Amino acid sequence: MNVLISAQQIRDRVDELGAEIATDFAGKRLTVVGVLTGCLVFLADLIRRLNHPLQVALIEASSYRGAATTPGELVINDGLLTELAGRDILLLDDILDTGRTISRLVDHLATKGPASVKTCVLLRKLGRQEVAFEPDYVGFPIPDKFVVGYGLDFNDEYRHLPFIAELPDDHAPPG
Ligand code: IMP
Ligand code: MG
Repeated sequence: MNVLISAQQIRDRVDELGAEIATDFAGKRLTVVGVLTGCLVFLADLIRRLNHPLQVALIEASSYRGAATTPGELVINDGLLTELAGRDILLLDDILDTGRTISRLVDHLATKGPASVKTCVLLRKLGRQEVAFEPDYVGFPIPDKFVVGYGLDFNDEYRHLPFIAELPDDHAPPG
C-alpha cells in the first residue's frame, strides 16, 4: 500500500495536538464528541494524550453518496450523546472533505446548549471543500486522494491499519 502518513508520524502529531488542546481547554468542562465510526482510533489515542478532565460522547453521521440515494444527504443519530448543556465541546472527526458533515454537526450540537463548540479533524483534504468552514485543530493536510486506515474506511474495511494509506488501485473509491 502507498502509505501517506506513518504510524510514527501519527503518534507524534497526536502528541502535539493533545498538548495544544489540553492547554487551550485549561479550566474548561471538556466533552470530546467523536463522530462514528471513523473517529474511533483517533479518539482513543487523543484522549489518552489529554492531561485534562474530560467526558466522552459519540454521535453518528452517515452520508449516503451512492447512486441510489441523494448525494450529500446526511443522517444524524445523537442517541449516544451525554448531557452537553454548559459543556465545552471538542467535536472530533477523521477527515474534513467537502466540510458538509462537520458543519452540519456543529449546528446540531449548538442546539444542545453547550458553552462552546470547537472542532478537530485528523485529516483535511485539500481542494475538495464545498462549505466555508475552518476547523480549530487539524492533524495533517492531505492531497485529494481517497485514503484509508487509522479509522478511515472504504466499505467499512481497512479501519484497523495503524497508518494512513491511499486506497489500493484494485478498489474504486465511492462515486
Ligand atoms: P465531508 O462531509 O465531505 O467533509 O465528508 C466527511 C466524511 O466523508 C468523513 O467523515 C468520512 O467518513 C468520509 N470521507 C471523506 N473522504 C474520505 C477518504 O478519503 N477516506 C475515507 N472516508 C472519507
Ligand atoms: Mg466518517
